[in-house]
Amino acid sequence: MIAVDIASDLDRVLHTEQQVLTRIAEVAAQIDADYEGREPLIVGVLNGAMMTVSDLTRAMTSHCEVDWMAVSSYGSGTRSSGVVRILKDLTTDISGRHVLIAEDIVDTGLTLSYLVKNLRNREPASLEVMTMFRKPDAMTCPVNLKYVGFDIPNEFVVGYGLDYSGRYRNLRDVATLAPHVYS
Ligand code: XMP
Ligand code: MG
Repeated sequence: MIAVDIASDLDRVLHTEQQVLTRIAEVAAQIDADYEGREPLIVGVLNGAMMTVSDLTRAMTSHCEVDWMAVSSYGSGTRSSGVVRILKDLTTDISGRHVLIAEDIVDTGLTLSYLVKNLRNREPASLEVMTMFRKPDAMTCPVNLKYVGFDIPNEFVVGYGLDYSGRYRNLRDVATLAPHVYS
């Protein structure tokens, strides 16, 4: 779906699908260049990073592998619970691999700093992070983000894999929700 399909649910569109895809292509080109001669293992963080990983990997011109983790840091609402749990672990042994975590969004940085620590213990050859969106004003946990798609304001956003209460992941654009949706 696109924003006009659910216009009454939305407050405003922050980035259209086309803007996201244009930016993803730039990031993919950077990753291709940086990883020349080192095939990265892209670790997508489910469920939010589903669109990011599929568009990023398809925009790349060099080989990569993909694996997935699922973690939970949010309940069904819009605020971090402060608790990170691994719901699904990797199937790949990452020791000696060049690992690139691909995230949908970094808010406080709590989820990511937990993930980075967890994966670093498995002794990858290198470990970097790509995120499609970052909320600089919300970050409380310092994490090194090598690749950032867009910085966005400290507001809850949906679309392009990001959900509210399970919905809106299939919205192609990235938008904020109208207040009535939360009540
Ligand atoms: P932290 O605070 O740990 O949060 O960096 C990261 C995770 O929280 C979710 N998140 C969002 N999900 N719209 C969403 O749909 C948002 O604006 C948002 N901010 C954070 C997301 O799962 C992310 O991985
Ligand atoms: Mg996520």
